Formats: sequence, structure tokens, C-alpha cells
Amino acid sequence: MARTKIKEILQSDKTDYSVNVKGWVRSFRNNQFIALNDGSCMKNLQVVIELGKFDDIIGKINESTSISVNGKIVLSQGKGQKFDLMAESVEILGECDPNEYPLQLKNKPSLEFLREKAHLRFRTNTFGAVFRIRHTLAYAIHKFFNDRGFVYMHTPIITASDAEGAGEMFKVTTLPFDGTPRKEDNSVDFAEDFFGRATNLTVSGQLEAELGAMAFGEVYTFGPTFRAENSNTARHLAEFWMIEPEVAFNDIKDNADLAEDFIRYVIGYAMEHNREDIEFLQQRLLDEEKQKPQAERSEMALIEKLEFVLNNKFERVTYTEAIQILLDSPAYKKKKFQYEVSWGIDMQSEHERYLVEKHFKKPVIVTDYPKDIKAFYMRQNDDGKTVAAMDILVPGIGEMVGGSQREERLEKLEQRMREMHIPVEEMYWYLDTRRFGTVPHAGFGLGFERLILFVTGMTNIRDVIPFPRTPKNAEF
Ligand code: 4AD
Ligand code: MG
Repeated sequence: MARTKIKEILQSDKTDYSVNVKGWVRSFRNNQFIALNDGSCMKNLQVVIELGKFDDIIGKINESTSISVNGKIVLSQGKGQKFDLMAESVEILGECDPNEYPLQLKNKPSLEFLREKAHLRFRTNTFGAVFRIRHTLAYAIHKFFNDRGFVYMHTPIITASDAEGAGEMFKVTTLPFDGTPRKEDNSVDFAEDFFGRATNLTVSGQLEAELGAMAFGEVYTFGPTFRAENSNTARHLAEFWMIEPEVAFNDIKDNADLAEDFIRYVIGYAMEHNREDIEFLQQRLLDEEKQKPQAERSEMALIEKLEFVLNNKFERVTYTEAIQILLDSPAYKKKKFQYEVSWGIDMQSEHERYLVEKHFKKPVIVTDYPKDIKAFYMRQNDDGKTVAAMDILVPGIGEMVGGSQREERLEKLEQRMREMHIPVEEMYWYLDTRRFGTVPHAGFGLGFERLILFVTGMTNIRDVIPFPRTPKNAEF
């Protein structure tokens, strides 16, 4: 008999029909009731075993044993589920010794413990929900751009350009550590390396995406990016996924509109298609919050928070206005900020959180940052001090998006590159777009894992990517 997915059985109204299901045992009660999960949805299917009928294999049915069951779907006699599967035959596909198995759900393993067992944590309700949502969001991202005529562009993962300045890069090399070829001045001779030059893992696909936008009009990238910063925070990964749209003829306002539409669309899509997973995560958070003092509990439950974002426009302020809000804030006056506040600072997360969580209580798009704290490619404003940059700050997360209108004027761009010691000659390919048919254009980068944090309500970025890469950690 062909296998039927549990999701299909539970979603249907049909009863009294024969099926085959396959999956992993979540629990086994009274030698009679198996909670079977096959990953297709959050819910388990209850498999009912007639007492005495399967005595030869009953001892092998443990948590995470994989089984195949033939039987009949009937309306359940018990509470808590609509259907039962009355087992007619049960085959053990793979045994699971409870004395060896490191993940016993009945012990209610913590997220920290599960992080150390990341190869098995997909089998928990929490991570099942998180990674089904991750999948849906990825799909929704492609759908959003595809529906709007964007071209999905694969930008290189290995790159020789390190001019973005977004962060420390990982080197890519096949040169030996012992007897590394060196030049006369003792520096490493990368001419001997695989690519004949020094190469790195990319920190962003933006510069290449700009080249695509100058032909297709609208492109986006969606791929892994790498940053070798030693930031051991709950918001940073060394390997993360980024979505970077780049659009010809857009200015900074169009860019902010696109980002806002995009974020709303993908959140709405996940809410529609992963309702059960989100409801489960919401309940999980509510249970967790019960342990906390009242003052530390969130004002909104997860679904309410997501609906709020769907139904309310993001706030838009300039950097200059944001700094003024901070200077006028009670927090500043009572010296609650650890870091200084003045025009020109690179806002710290305490400042960003104050703006979104205390002041505006909603996502905020901050524009027009001082040019000295932003990348060389951002379009210079007429005031000579600021650039057409844009960051989107989100409650609970901080920065989710960084982007800008790009400097499309060759002279201004070259001048800024020289000021910032960026090798103008090496970047000829980037500058060529400004030489040959340049147009105003803009784009942004959205950190995929930070979006998933927001949608799932998880609080550590290591819990929303299957195999996190962080300083001193590349297990699995
Ligand atoms: O602000 P960033 O550095 O912007 C860029 O890389 C631009 N080239 C994007 C563009 O304009 N096309 O990074 C963009 C976003 C951040 O807002 C954040 O959400 C995420 O990427 N991000 C990280 N996520 C996880 N771990 C890290 N170490 C991250 N660094 C940035
Ligand atoms: Mg940024």
C-alpha cells in the first residue's frame, strides 16, 4: 500500500478507510497507544494497538523507533484527537534503544541541551515547528519576488573582492600551512593559490546583484553569507542566509516601501500556511513567560505581535530624528544607556531597542545615516554629511534589514572610494556600471535568520538555523 502522510489524514474528514503510515514514535502509552509523527505536521497520529495482538514487537516500540503501520482510520473514541489508526500490522523499520538514545522527550530537554544534539532536535515539536516555518518563509520569499517579475540571481560564494566592508572575511585557499609559498618580502604568494589570487567567502551578494539590476531591472539574491566576526551574541552567526533585492530606478523611499511590503507579505504567508506551528510556538512562549516576573513579560502574544506588524505601517524617521528622540528620552536623562548618544554614533543595540520597543513600539525604518559609519556605495545626500541609507529595526530583534540607495554618480563614487581606501582600479567591474548607462538604483539585505526569530518568537539565532556556525562551534 502507498504511504499516506499524517497531515493528509488529519486534514481530511474521511473515516473508515485503509492506509499505510510511516514515521517515528513520539510516545507509547499503556502498551496500547502510539503517538506517531512523520514530520508532515505538528500533530501526531494516534495508532491504537490491540492488546495481545503484537506482543512479539511491543518491547521494541520506544521513542524514536521508526515504524510502518497498516490499518484503518476510524473516529477516535478518546479525547484530544479526531482520528485513530487501528493497527492491523506493524513493522519495525529501525529500532531505537532507550538506554542509548540521547534525547528523551519526557525529560523536557532544554533548548541549550537540544543545541548540543542538533542532529536529532528536528524530532521535537519546537524544532519541527521552527524548521517548517523556515521552509515556508524561504518559499514565500521566492514567491514574492517571482510574482513581481524579479530575476533570482546566484551571486558567487567565493569572491576576490573584500571591498564591501561588511565584516571580517573567511579566507579560501588551497595553499599549504607548512612551506607556504612566499614572495621576496615574505608575504604569502597568492599567485600560487588555486585561483591565482587571494579569495574569501562572500559577506554579501550586493555588488554583483547591482550588476544584474543594471540589465534585468529587478533582481534578488538569496544565499549563504559569511562573517568571521567574533560576535558571540544571540543575533549573530558566522554563516547566515541573506536576501538581497536590487532594483534599478528605485530611490530610497521606493526601497523602504519594497522592504515593508516584502516583510509583511512573508509574515502573512507564514501565518496563513503554518498556523498550527505558530500557535504551538505561541503557547510555548506563554508557558515560558509564566516563569518570568510580570515586568519582563511581553506585552503581546506572538500572533498578536505578528498581526500588529501586518496591520500597521512601519514608522519612518531619519537618523537625526532618532538621535534627538534618544537625547530627549527619560532613559537618557536618567543615564540608563551604557553607551554615549550624540550625532555621529553608530547606534548600539540598547539605542535601537529603546526606539522600537519603548518609544515607537513597532518596526522602524531609520534613514539618512552619517556617511562616516556607512559603506562606500551609499548615495551621498546633498547635505554633505549623510547618505541615503536605511536600516529596519524590529522589536525583540534589533536590525533586521540594512540597505540604501546606491551612489550612481561615477565621480562621487570614486572620490568616496579613495577617501575610504578602497582599491578603485581592482573594482573596475563595479564601476563599469556607473560608466556605461548608469541609473539611480537601490536595494537592501534582510537577514533570513533574524526574520525567522521574529516570526517564531525564538530568542537565540542558533535555534532557527539547522546547523549553526558560531565562534568555536562547527559541530555537525
Ligand atoms: O547590514 P548588512 O551588513 O548589509 C549588507 O550586507 C548589505 N550589502 C545589504 C544590501 O544592501 N544588499 O547586513 C544585512 C542584514 C542585517 O540587517 C542583518 O539582518 C543580517 O544581514 N546580518 C546578520 N545575520 C546574522 N548574523 C550576522 N552575523 C549578521 N550580519 C548581518
Ligand atoms: Mg547593517
